[in-house]
Order: sequence, then structure tokens, then C-alpha cells
Amino acid sequence: MNVLIIGGGGREHAIAAKINESKRLTKLYAAPGSDGMADIAEKVPLAVTDVEGIVAFAREKEIEMVFIGPEVPLLAGLADALLKEGVMVLGPEKAAAELEGSKVFSKNIMKKYAIPTGAYEVFTDASAAIAYLETAAYPTVVKADGLAAGKGVIIAENREDAVAAVKSMMEDKVFGESGSRVVIEEFLTGEELSLLAFTDGKTVVPMIPSQDHKRIDDNDEGLNTGGMGAYAPAPVGSPEIIDAAMEKVMKPLVAAMAQEGKPYRGVLYAGLMVENGDVKVLEFNARFGDPETQAVLPLLDTDIIDIVEAINRGTLDQTEIRWKDGYAVCVVISAKGYPGTPVKGDVISGLEAETEDTFVFHAGTKKENGAFVSNGGRVLGVTAFDRDLKTAIEKAYARVRTISFKECHYRNDIGQKAFRHLT
Ligand code: AMP
Ligand code: GLY
Repeated sequence: MNVLIIGGGGREHAIAAKINESKRLTKLYAAPGSDGMADIAEKVPLAVTDVEGIVAFAREKEIEMVFIGPEVPLLAGLADALLKEGVMVLGPEKAAAELEGSKVFSKNIMKKYAIPTGAYEVFTDASAAIAYLETAAYPTVVKADGLAAGKGVIIAENREDAVAAVKSMMEDKVFGESGSRVVIEEFLTGEELSLLAFTDGKTVVPMIPSQDHKRIDDNDEGLNTGGMGAYAPAPVGSPEIIDAAMEKVMKPLVAAMAQEGKPYRGVLYAGLMVENGDVKVLEFNARFGDPETQAVLPLLDTDIIDIVEAINRGTLDQTEIRWKDGYAVCVVISAKGYPGTPVKGDVISGLEAETEDTFVFHAGTKKENGAFVSNGGRVLGVTAFDRDLKTAIEKAYARVRTISFKECHYRNDIGQKAFRHLT
């Protein structure tokens, strides 16, 4: 069949590579795609939010299945429009994608259905929020309600910082309408875990657990980013923890969404905090994580087209989903300036040196005069595979060190938290 991917980052490159392994694939397109994945997915010059354009393209090219990578097109109703056309989709409809699009929606549904998460209050008025901050415990967490490109969460160490966060969101509108409501949430301690699952709205099948590395520098220091690396399976997600997450979070949430008349089909991403053998939800995302996907999907051993077909037909309960043994580690190479404004346009060397069991995913590159140059904050994601985690990490870094561009940056400790759990 003909398949289309929406998006053009490292996550979408990893999705494209997995689809490309399918025996059922005829032709793969990506809108907008990227030069880095153009060898496996033909670039289509359409914006991810051009719903009409994408629907018309799907009709013209007889696309049977669309994978929606980022959250913005989900909230623009792209899945709804494609489903109306009879196209199979990976990604929830707009009403269900509100789980990511509105933190207030997400927190309220967790409260209503007793899904474990931090205590919180919602404010629509800056002065009420500021008054509440007088008595809050610190650190406290201030979150813009709507999408904020991963920047809408502020962990405030004291009242002054929390008030500044509220003012910037609600009065200065740094995230536009996304900040017209804020959630002020209890600060949770523990170890973070990303649990992604496939769901057809009834059955929920977890993927292997993964762990992101959000801060820009080693030892979780420096600014928050979209994610500087990931590995899977992450041993913090022990069988007991995954069981707790499935029974207390994933299954009740999918049942709740159905109950609310907003059935959730697609990939459900739970950002979880693990402490003392139990889990609490930090956030839900309505899509694959980036960079978790670059570590998780290489280990998927079942045809992803079969899985997405089962999600669309409601037959996930009859689909066996298998994973390869071993570990995958993804190290992100970022540009100077990231997570602020990145420097772009530097020539990248070392991309051609193929290594066994490694794969370079392009996140922010473009081709200029036949050479790849940096073109974003997160530039590349280098994934390596091995039966053994330590060796997978070594292989990833060995490959990373062969690649360079001016003032490129990466963390040196991706995957190290795993050894707290492995002996
Ligand atoms: P979110 O976009 O909600 O996942 O928040 C981004 C990051 O902020 C998370 O991955 C956590 O590292 C951190 N975070 C969010 N909420 C909390 C919380 N209640 N307590 C502690 N850290 C949090
Ligand atoms: N890696 C975090 C996210 O995709 O939201």
C-alpha cells in the first residue's frame, strides 16, 4: 500500500525506517519529510497543518495509511479529516488529542477517573493564581494549559519564580492563548519513565519502556530541551512498574476516554514518575515521543503496518506485537544555541561512515550543494543496538564521535541511569 508520514524530524525518520521494512509497503511519502529521509520517503511540499492539502494529496496518490508524527496536526483535526476519507490513520482525532492539547482537560480527566497524578489547581485569572502561590509548597510546577512546543512547564524553586512564570504566561502571553489558563501542580520526585502504548480505543498494548533525557547537559543539568537522548528498554520500567502503569493509568484512561465519548486510538504516551514502586502521571502525549521513538521503534519486530491496520479495524486484541531482545540507545547531537535559537548552516561531516548496528536519524538537517548542513536545534539522533546495554551505549558514542559540525553538542551520559537498576 501507499503510506504517508506527517512531519519531518528525527521521530518521523525513525517511523519511516520502520515502515520501510514492511513487506506491505508500495510507496512511502513524507509531508514535509526531510532531505535526510528522502532516500526512503519521497518529500511532499505540504505543511503538517495543511489539512485540505494533505487530504487532497492522499486522494490523488491513493494513500491508504497516514502516520501523524507531531501533535499540532492532531489538534488541527487531521486524523478526523483523513478518517472521513476512509484512510487509515495512526493518531487520535482532535477531541481525543485534547489529552495533550489541554493540560486542564488531561488533569481533570485523571481526577475524575482516579488516575494517579500530582495534586493541582487550575487558574483562569492571574491574580487568583498569584494569591494561591502565597501558600503553595516549593518547588512547585506552573504549566501553561495549551501547546507550547515543550516549553510550557516551569519548575519554580520559590514564590518569586512561580509568580514570574504565571505573569509571563497569563499577562505577557508568551505562549499566546495556550497560557490563558494555567495549572499549578505539586512537584513530584522520583525517576521519569516514558511508556508508549498502541491502542485501538479498547485494547492497550504497551511498547517497551524508554527513558528520555530532558536537560541539555550531563547529570540532568542546564535548560530543559525537547529531549537529548533516550534508550529502551529502560529497566526503571520493571515488569511490576509496567503492570502498575497499565492497570492504574493506561487501561483506565483509554476506558475513560471511551466513556467520555472521545475514544482514543493511536499511540498513547504517558510521561510517568516512578517512586517507591508506584507511578504517577506527569503528562500525556497523543503521539510517539521524540527522541524515545528513535530508541523504541528499532526494536519493534512486528510489521508496523499490520499494527496500524489493527488499530483502525479495532482488532488489536488479536495482534501479537513482538520486540527484539537487546537495547537501543539514541544520542542526540544538537546545535550551538539550542534549546534557544540554534545556529544553522554548518556542514556536517562523517555521515557516510556506516557502522554495524548503528543508524543516524536526521532531525534538523538539510542538503545544500550536495552536503548535509545543520538546520535546527536537534540536528541528528544516533541510535545503536546491542544485546547488552553497555555495548549499545559504547557503539552509539563511537558513531557519534565520527560525526561533527561546528560547535555541535551532545550529552555523554545517555543511558547511565539504567545502571542504578542493573547489576
Ligand atoms: P511535561 O511537558 O508535563 O512532561 O513536563 C516536562 C517535564 O517537566 C517533565 O518531563 C518533568 O521532567 C517535569 N515535570 C512536569 N511536571 C512535573 C511535576 N509535577 N513534578 C516534577 N517534575 C515535573
Ligand atoms: N520526548 C518528549 C516528548 O516527545 O514529548
